[in-house]
Amino acid sequence: MRQIVLATRNAKKIRELERILLAAGLTDVGLAGPELYAALPEIPETGLSFAENALIKARAVAAATGLTAVADDSGLCVDALSGMPGVLSARWSGRFGDQVGGPDRDTANLQLVLDQVADVPDAALGAHFTCAAALVQPDGTEHVVEGVILGYLVRTPRGTGGFGYDPIFVPEGETRTTAEMSAEEKDAISHRGRAFRALVPLLKGEG
Ligand code: IMP
Repeated sequence: MRQIVLATRNAKKIRELERILLAAGLTDVGLAGPELYAALPEIPETGLSFAENALIKARAVAAATGLTAVADDSGLCVDALSGMPGVLSARWSGRFGDQVGGPDRDTANLQLVLDQVADVPDAALGAHFTCAAALVQPDGTEHVVEGVILGYLVRTPRGTGGFGYDPIFVPEGETRTTAEMSAEEKDAISHRGRAFRALVPLLKGEG
């Protein structure tokens, strides 16, 4: 069985990729996570694009393990904020997201975005999530694919599913936020689901 290592410490991402690979009939692939690169220090995401950051992580893990590595990087891009928070999505609220007794980081990030669009008309609240997934082979071969989900922001958070900005994001053609969907419903249309599914032909050697 071929071994692929996913460059993330997020167990949910490992399970999501596993589900997508199985659904695509990729049964000869074993997925591993951080247990294979535990000694590797935290990899700084210094890239200016999702693709660059995904490649930085996949290259580091492929080099550390000698195995095929997959990494992703994702974020929310708000039209009225010229595409920000973008690659800065995870730490958008900076140190305000770390204050003891303050809101958790996801809530602080989401609240800051809502404050920033407070004067933007409802009709101009377009936004999308993007995910870049990078595949790096031990022989140095590299691929990057991207997945996008278009939608708009709502001013009042709704739903308890998902994470991050999900409670304020409604996909195009939907009325629910992605935090009001089941994990399977979100996977089927999400930026990460789309990017991971686009990796399948490459992992099958058809790309
Ligand atoms: P990363 O790709 O795990 O580094 O995620 C970057 C950040 O983008 C997360 O911390 C979230 O704030 C945001 N983000 C990425 N994907 C999603 C999503 O599916 N829902 C909500 N927020 C997301």
